[in-house]
This record gives sequence, structure tokens and C-alpha cells, in this order.
Amino acid sequence: MGIQYNESKKIFHIQGKSVSYIFKADKYNNLIHLYYGKKIRNINDNVINTNKAKSWSIIPNEEDDQYALDSALLEYPTFGHVDLRSGALSIEQENGSRILNLKYDSHKIIKGKKGIEGLPATYADENEAETLEIALIDEVTNLLVVLNYTVFNDRNVITKSVQIINKGYQTLKVLNAQSCCVDYRNSDYELLQLSGAWARERQIVKRQLVQGIQSIGSARGTSSHVHNPFMALMSPDTTEENGEVFGFNLVYSGNFLGEVSVSEHNRTRVLMGINPLNFSWQLKPEERFQTPEVVMVYSNEGLGGMSSEYHSLYRENLMRGTWKEKQRPIVINNWEATYFDFTRESLEDIVKKASEIGVELFVLDDGWFGKRDDDTCSLGDWYVNTDKIEGGLEKLAKNVNNMDMDFGLWFEPEMISPDSDLYRNHSDWCLHVENRERVTCRYQLVLNLSKKEVCDYIIESVSKVLSSAPIKYVKWDMNRYLTDVMSMDLPRDRQMETSHRYMLGLYYIMEEIVTRHKDILFEGCSGGGGRFDPGILYYMPQIWTSDDSDAIERLKIQYSTSLVYPPVSMGSHVSSTPNHQVGRTTPLNTRGNVAMSGNFGYELDLTKYNDKQISEIKEQIDFYKENRQLIQYGDYYRLNNPFEENNGAWIFVSKDKTEAILFYTTILAEPNPVDQQVRCRGLNEEFNYKIDGLEGIFGGDELMNLGLTLPELKDFESVRFRIRKA
Ligand code: DGJ
Repeated sequence: MGIQYNESKKIFHIQGKSVSYIFKADKYNNLIHLYYGKKIRNINDNVINTNKAKSWSIIPNEEDDQYALDSALLEYPTFGHVDLRSGALSIEQENGSRILNLKYDSHKIIKGKKGIEGLPATYADENEAETLEIALIDEVTNLLVVLNYTVFNDRNVITKSVQIINKGYQTLKVLNAQSCCVDYRNSDYELLQLSGAWARERQIVKRQLVQGIQSIGSARGTSSHVHNPFMALMSPDTTEENGEVFGFNLVYSGNFLGEVSVSEHNRTRVLMGINPLNFSWQLKPEERFQTPEVVMVYSNEGLGGMSSEYHSLYRENLMRGTWKEKQRPIVINNWEATYFDFTRESLEDIVKKASEIGVELFVLDDGWFGKRDDDTCSLGDWYVNTDKIEGGLEKLAKNVNNMDMDFGLWFEPEMISPDSDLYRNHSDWCLHVENRERVTCRYQLVLNLSKKEVCDYIIESVSKVLSSAPIKYVKWDMNRYLTDVMSMDLPRDRQMETSHRYMLGLYYIMEEIVTRHKDILFEGCSGGGGRFDPGILYYMPQIWTSDDSDAIERLKIQYSTSLVYPPVSMGSHVSSTPNHQVGRTTPLNTRGNVAMSGNFGYELDLTKYNDKQISEIKEQIDFYKENRQLIQYGDYYRLNNPFEENNGAWIFVSKDKTEAILFYTTILAEPNPVDQQVRCRGLNEEFNYKIDGLEGIFGGDELMNLGLTLPELKDFESVRFRIRKA
């Protein structure tokens, strides 16, 4: 395990739990990729020659006319010199050339993993991981490129990131710097991506690779609702439990690119990193540029194997802080209950009802500050509107505390309303282009986080509110994409740095605020799940999954989100019916079952619910409290796929396999159905289990092979089974 270097052959072998990643520096010091897949002991590189020249090949050296790189598997390729496929790095030089010829220079192997300054990243101590740093040099420019590979000893995870350092005398411009490149020998893969839109984020899309370029990405300033910064290559016929899967997830919340290209010889190249569209970064001598990190997961146990690797890595080596392993509270949020129309008293009525049935935290959503009664004003004016909250936040929070609940608050710190005091005083603080109309979305502009004074204003104004009352939770929202991305402070040739500078500013603000307010539980949000990515999870251990709170829509959204992100990272609430997004009416039991499969809460006006409904809600809350450790920190297995079947089912299993909860929800019922079974996963075949409400003993082998027989369910009905070792 770890990183081995064969000095005579200059072969690097990176080995994780059951994965090998191998490459070498060849006779010309070009880095040639050899293998990525199931762990092997050694490689016989004598007969692997992906660099064999073909007709029309580019021959770098006529004296060695069998040697070419334009179809070879390359570790970190550049375009235009010896390879004409998409490159990982492009640097404009003072003479206008973008040609580079990177050669292996040296390397270092270190224990553990270094942090990435200013950017979120997974972390590991000296016993958990090893890191390889490969230095490549372009002789003409004296550009130094350092490729970082970290392998986690007990996982099937390899992370990659790159530093680009100008060791020469000219000023360079980075035009493209991908975090990761992996070349595959052939194209026998399907590409899986998580794509969608607002209220239907991260839907599973699969396509067969074909010759040409297929890509996902964002140029919207956030990772976005449209494509998640994740993709996977899968061997044909991959299922939940079988098949080879290669996952790629970028730890970044801004513009990104995920590109898969298939060449004329069916070589497949995967690139992932910051989107080169509207990006550049100037590098004066001795300056460096750091790419974000890509987390690569290998599984030869299908998609389920990949997910369990991502889940445990993100829970243990990405999330941080007080709440990393702590049970998350059951919340009630007033957004869908009141929207902007509330007073302190009306909120306290909801809190009173919630407190009587055991809800633990009340979140005051949008509309508490400035003079905000709708979405047209006041973003940036982070002081309480005492017309609505008479007595201020402190009084409200204390009243909530007196009802035995904690208090949480919504912010949208990155924004500014043209109708705000902040804008009247600092109209130059937003992203805009001089002499052009400023384009609003939801009546708001975006603060220019590439400016330090803007970041500091946010830190201080948010911190001031957080210190003004006993606030235990923050919902950090972000409700528009970035347009007119220019920073008037930057010179012309640095304007294309603005989007990435925005992200660096955002991460600086988040780091500062979460460090100053260590005990607060932060939940990320961006119009629902518009920024659901590992970058945010580094600062905030949970994210509002989607503005779509309909239980049936959530079957798909939560199913596909769980491909990468653990249930404990997903905010999911019961809302009222007919559902506000799709108009659907579903049983309260179903809404409860779906919502309690993540960080549970309610988003409804409990004062409008009758006694029978309230006692059903209380029963949900009691059940969740009893089982929250298992749901939030147990192992999660997907059972039935709502994209392909007429239901959704999943199971949470404790680490020792003595406890489990299975949830099953029908979408549309079939008339005159035959009996249906759902097969469990993750149990111990040898154990015997009892199931609450069912007679007799079930073998683990029976539950996982024959399955559990389901009752007949009508449209949108749901059941849950509490399973315990007998
Ligand atoms: C979008 C969020 O996703 C909602 O939950 C809510 O907080 C609104 N913004 C408030 O404006």
C-alpha cells in the first residue's frame, strides 16, 4: 500500500486498498500513464507501448520513428506540440506561443497530505495517506508544474491537484489548468453525470462514449443546478453491485469543466478542473497558481461501491468542525410556512407547536432584515427589521430557547439588492461592467468577492448578527448566477481572473466565519441544491438538497445525490400539500419517510395541522430521534432506482450490521398487482433478524436474496421496516 517508486524503470505505483494507479517517466522523461484499475502487484512495462507511432503520427524525434505521443496515454498533456488531443494545461507566453513540452524532473514522496492554501480539500494525517509530488519542467519557459497525487491507505481514493510555478523571467498567462487528467486505453465505458435544473437537481444521465468530445460544466459562477461537478466512467452493464466505476469529483464550487474525449484510436481522456471559458491567470516570475483538487474513486463493486467510498471519505476526511460527527438537530423552517409574511408572534406560534412535539431547532428564513417584505430589497443590510421582529433577534431567540428549542437564521451574504443601504453607500461593490446596465436576477446583484474590503464587510456584518443572539444554526443561501463578471479594480489583462478570485474570496469568508463561530451548525444552500459540492461541504457539513420538497421528486433527487454525497450532508424537510413546487398531494407518512432519510426537518405551518396529523408528526420525530445515529452515520445502500422503477427504496445499516431501517415508497400503484419483494443489502447473511411489526425471524441471507415481502401500496404510499438482530 502507498506509493512505490521503481528507480531503475522510473515507474510510480500508487496503491490504495484495492486500487492501483501506475505511470512512468520514459526514456525521454515524458510521463506515460500505464494503468488505473483493480489493484495489481506489479506491471511489466516492457510490452506496453501506447506510444507506438501510427500512420500520420507526430514524430518528435526522426531517429526514433517508432515513438510518438499523439496516441499515447499521458499523465499531464499539453496541446499542440507532440499531442493534438485536448490538453490539461495551456500557458500563453510573451511571444504569443502556447506551446509547452513538460519533462519529468524530480519527485518527492511524503507521508500524509498537505492542505491546499485558500481552497477546500480532503485532509489526511501521516498514517492515513501518502502523497507523491512530481515536478515537471518546460525548459524554454522554465515553467515548473507540480503534480500532486495523494492515496488514502485504507480507501480506494486518489486525489489530484496541480501547482503551476513560474520559474522563468517572462510574465505568463495560464489559460487552462486542469486539476486532473486520466487517459484510458479504450472507450468501452458509459459516462454517468448528474444533471438537471432548479428543483430537479442532479438527475442521473448516462451515455455511451463516442469518438469526439462530451462534456459537463458550469460557467455560471457556481457549480450550479445544471451539472454537478461529478462524473463517472463505468464499464458496460455496471449495476449497483457489479462493474468497474471511476468517479471524478471536483472540490470546487465555481465554474468547472468535466470533459471526456475519445480519439480516433478510441483512447479516452478524462479532464476535470476549472472551466477554461472566461478564465485566465497571470503569473509573474516566482508566482504560482494552485488548481482545486479532484477526488478520484475507483470501485470494482459497481456504483454502490463507489458511493460508499465517497460517503465515508467525505464524512471523515472532508467535513470538519464541531458538527462533523455530532447528531444533527430536527429543524422547523418557516420558509414554506410563511414566506415573507410573518411577525415575531406568528413565528412563535409555530415554534410553540413544534416544541410540544419535540422539534429541536427553529430556523428563521428570508425576510427578517432591512425592510425586506418580498425579494426586491435589503440584501446586504444585515440588521434586524424590528417592525416584523419586535424586540429584535435576541428576544425572539430567547423566546425560542424558553420553549426548549434552539434558534437558527438565514443569510444570503454574497448578494446586494439595488434597493439597500449597502448599495446606496457602495454601488461599486457589485460585479458589473462600467457604463453597462447592471443585470439583476431576483432583483439582486452579486457582491464582488474578489475585493478584500467586500469580504471583510461580509465577515464583520454577519459575525455581528451571529454574536447578537444565541444563534446555533445558519442557512447560507445564494440565489442567482454570476453575470457581468468583471472587477473594475483589476487591470484589463487580469479581468478573466475574477470568477476564480470570487471563489477564493468566498472560501476566505466561509473559513473566517465558521472558525469564529465554531459551534454553529452551517447549512449551505443555493436556491436549493445549486451549489451542492464538496467545496461547500468542507466548510458546511450539510446542504439544502433542493427547493423541491415534494416527496416523490425527492426520491430521484436524493437517490442521485447519494451517488456521491452521504445522507448526512442532505437537508430534507416535510412540507405541506398540495406541494408548492409540483402541486402533488402525498401522504404525510411518505413525506416523513423520505425527509427522514437525510437531515430531517419540517417546512410547514404546524398551527394549521389537526390533532391526528400532529400526533403522526410527533411519531415521526420520535422515530427519527431513536434512529438518528443509524440514519446520519450508518451505511447507506440504494435498493431500487426510482429513475428506472416505479418506486424508490434504500436501507441504512449499522456498522456492526445488527440494526437497519429499510424505506420503500411506491410512485404509481399498479392495479391488480402481484406480491412484491425488496431485497436488502448490507446485512450479515449469517445473522438472524427481527422486524418490528412482522412475525417470526428472518435470516440475513433470506432478506438479501429472497427479499422482504411488501404490503400492497397505493399511489405515493410508503413503508419503513425497523430491522434488528434477533
Ligand atoms: C432559496 C432557498 O433554497 C429557500 O429554501 C429559501 O431559503 C429562499 N431562497 C429564501 O429566499
